[in-house]
Amino acid sequence: MKFNYKETTNDLQTRIDIHTQYGKRNIDEWMLEVLPLSQGMKILDVGCGSGKQCFLFFDHLDGECEIVGGDVSVELLQDAVEVANEKEANIQFLPVNFNERFPFEDNSFDLVTCCFAIYYAEDMPFTIGEMHRVLKPGGRLFLSGPLPTNKQVFYEIITEATGKTIPPMPGSSRFSTEIMQTVESIFSEAEMLNFENPLVFDDSPEPFLDYTKASISEDRKLWNTLFDEKENFNEVMDKITRIAQARFERDGKLVMTKVVGGIYGKK
Ligand SMILES: C[S@@+](CC[C@H](N)C(=O)[O-])C[C@H]1O[C@@H](n2cnc3c(N)ncnc32)[C@H](O)[C@@H]1O
Repeated sequence: MKFNYKETTNDLQTRIDIHTQYGKRNIDEWMLEVLPLSQGMKILDVGCGSGKQCFLFFDHLDGECEIVGGDVSVELLQDAVEVANEKEANIQFLPVNFNERFPFEDNSFDLVTCCFAIYYAEDMPFTIGEMHRVLKPGGRLFLSGPLPTNKQVFYEIITEATGKTIPPMPGSSRFSTEIMQTVESIFSEAEMLNFENPLVFDDSPEPFLDYTKASISEDRKLWNTLFDEKENFNEVMDKITRIAQARFERDGKLVMTKVVGGIYGKK
């Protein structure tokens, strides 16, 4: 499956900041609880974006580890390198594309992670096969992504505003099905973990609207069936704004719950 999709620094950062500020739970803490992190490990984070998880692991292990972050976006990798330089963090960032052979030897890593990104791979058995190949025997895989009940209020408001069917989302439409099944078929053990994080907007609907804009932004090319051009995008956002405001006034808040799955595999 091929999605015409591109992540951008601003849109990604806006969504990360809103999760951090309004989420009742912290996904980073959950990952640190469930992952088998220990000093001396060699870790690959693919689809690393601007390095969020690489820095999380690096700080947690006090830098006593070898971390490689890989992504297809040169822009996001540059951001990651800048932060690494500022922090004097010895993390290697390099181009890695899900759809091409990974530039690493067989059996090289103790842990391979891929957070909110695996669903952009075009050929799931190939990409998950590459993750398996570069893991050491007994090494662990961790993939995170949205489950079908993710962010219901967000989809409801967009459907009400546009009257259109939500385009199939690369993540929630196949994380618990196709992606989980592929891990089960390639890895010796696989299990699905669950994480729920309500984002509560009780001061104003504004952060919900910022989140929505950074999600359906035309730059990301995921939602373009909802609007044809920039003007139309603003019209759609105006309708979403009116509906979100009405719900906020009715309920005194908007609650958007992120429902995330963690697929945990053992080679
Ligand atoms: C939602 S972002 C997640 C980034 C990061 N893991 C985080 O949680 O902040 C999805 C990432 O997948 C990357 N991506 C999309 N297609 C890719 C591909 N073919 N190969 C490698 N990375 C890809 C994007 O560039 C983006 O950085």
